[in-house]
Amino acid sequence: TKRRRSRSASPASLSPPSTHKLAFSATASTAGPSPAFQQPTQLISFSYTPEREFEFTDSALRYLVQPPRNAQLAHAYDRWERRPERRSRIDGLLRALSAARAKRHPALASGVGVVAWRGVMTRILTSPYEEREGWDLNVMCVDGVLYFEEHLSDARLREKNDIEPRHRLQTYFGYAFESYCTSHTPGGANVPQNPGDPPGWGGDVDTNVQWCSVVRTKLGDTRMIIGGEVDCVREKYTGATDTFVELKTSLVIRGPHDEVKFEKKLLKFYMQSFLLGVPEILVGFRTPAGQVSTTQVFKTVEIPRLVRGKPHAWDPTTCLRWGNAFLGFLQAQLKGQPERDVWRVRFTPGMGVELRLLDAAEVDDVVAGEERVGFL
Ligand code: A3P
Ligand code: MG
Ligand code: MG
Repeated sequence: TKRRRSRSASPASLSPPSTHKLAFSATASTAGPSPAFQQPTQLISFSYTPEREFEFTDSALRYLVQPPRNAQLAHAYDRWERRPERRSRIDGLLRALSAARAKRHPALASGVGVVAWRGVMTRILTSPYEEREGWDLNVMCVDGVLYFEEHLSDARLREKNDIEPRHRLQTYFGYAFESYCTSHTPGGANVPQNPGDPPGWGGDVDTNVQWCSVVRTKLGDTRMIIGGEVDCVREKYTGATDTFVELKTSLVIRGPHDEVKFEKKLLKFYMQSFLLGVPEILVGFRTPAGQVSTTQVFKTVEIPRLVRGKPHAWDPTTCLRWGNAFLGFLQAQLKGQPERDVWRVRFTPGMGVELRLLDAAEVDDVVAGEERVGFL
């Protein structure tokens, strides 16, 4: 904060903020091969404890188990330890990256181009097909490396914390499904802890607890460090991404309209898992009241084929082309700019992105009231 404040007095910040645009139209028609995407390899993993303490352990790692038939996802809703919605900071990821660097991880021998949480990269890459939700990012370019952080406005943050009870329950359904589908020990069956717990309940939901994997991968010519939460592993933890499993819930498909909705949603499921190298997604199809009626395993690599040729189809190569153009655009704009500058990228659905330099007051807002490790 101190360093940034001192920069705000420098003459450069007195010049008007510059704005640069990248429209979808500039990249959409570019046919030709898709930029290559390298299979992600894990650099390091870490956990958040129930006290929300960061630790370099696998204490929060969980193993896949078969959920019981007709699992009730509203179970123990009143016992949910809910982590308040916060601005998701890059600090934990930077700590993990520093630790990997200190251990001289061989995968870090060559230069890195981008550091970001998986959620941010998913938003960027799926934006060609996003029809409703815009997003904002904060970006810094330090030593040629782009660091991304999601930016939630105060209003958006309040909205997320004041969601309707019905929506909050639906969110809980996703976490309750994780409880039924996972166990603390490999091959272990879940033994309920409380007298009222149903068979197979894996313990009350605490959304402070997370197990995260940090991977290295490459899109086109840009090496990327991506961190993200992994729901569980199948049977054993190998230290690689090959046993990772993503868990999802979705409404039971009752007709063609639901099917279209689900197949559109598959883009997010796909990209989220693809970026971290997660090979399998287990979907629990639930009733509106939260009873799981069926489960289905999707192999991540096979998902694009399921939608190909349909009127509502999406194409991952469009996403990768856009992502590659987006990164190239930022690299070109930010190269040679002062390293302490913080930039804001705004995505508008159907249009593209706009990049502008934040002024000193806005940068102070970005860091306000937070203990930061900092970008370096
Ligand atoms: P479902 O996806 O099963 O509904 P993730 O699937 O990424 O592991 O996230 C676990 C759960 O967190 C989700 O379960 C959902 O309930 C909630 N969640 C994740 N991202 C969300 C978002 N952007 N908005 C609301 N809830 C979200
Ligand atoms: Mg998850
Ligand atoms: Mg999940």
